[in-house]
Amino acid sequence: MTDPHLNHVTHPLVQHKLTLMRDKNTSTALFRQLLREISQLLAYEVTRGLPMTTKQIDTPMQPMEAPVLDGKKLALVSILRAGNGLLDGVLELIPSARVGFVGLYRDEETLQPVQYYFKVPTEMADRLVIAVDPMLATGNSSVAAIDLLKKAGAKNIRFLCLLASPEGIARMQEAHPDVPIVTAAVDSHLNEEGYIVPGLGDAGDRMFGTK
Ligand code: URA
Repeated sequence: MTDPHLNHVTHPLVQHKLTLMRDKNTSTALFRQLLREISQLLAYEVTRGLPMTTKQIDTPMQPMEAPVLDGKKLALVSILRAGNGLLDGVLELIPSARVGFVGLYRDEETLQPVQYYFKVPTEMADRLVIAVDPMLATGNSSVAAIDLLKKAGAKNIRFLCLLASPEGIARMQEAHPDVPIVTAAVDSHLNEEGYIVPGLGDAGDRMFGTK
């Protein structure tokens, strides 16, 4: 049975671009460009079913009642730092969106995510909130980020990533069954270090050229 809360985007363009991104020989510049392109294709999916209304306009031919998005501007929330790579492309498609950031690091002793930055738009309860992070790996930081967004009032949240592990999906669905996940791929497993296999390596390092 297909899972209504997991949208695996199998579109050929998405899959082709993802393969180029996975390739370890792909340069930082090309990786970034592909991430921007793929994030726009994924944004198309994650915004499916947004509420619509109509407004009166005049075409060169005649007046018409035409469809437009309804409701408050949506909020895009980047889970730092790799989330920023997805954010840029999504923002190009939805330039009027409001933007928030969640910064988390992993405490080396407890291995739990600890918040170091949190800034989100006002009126979170009235917005569709799209949290973006390219890698849904253990799910620890995604779950923690969504906990924080709910604490800030968000009620309608979707999660957008590029790659997901089965473990990360299970963790998210257990903690936040109300949050649909959109991903370009569900990979095999996590390794002992928490990396997605086959994956694409460290998404932040690959997009920013760090190591
Ligand atoms: N974060 C990454 O950047 N890559 C992984 O494989 C897992 C988490």
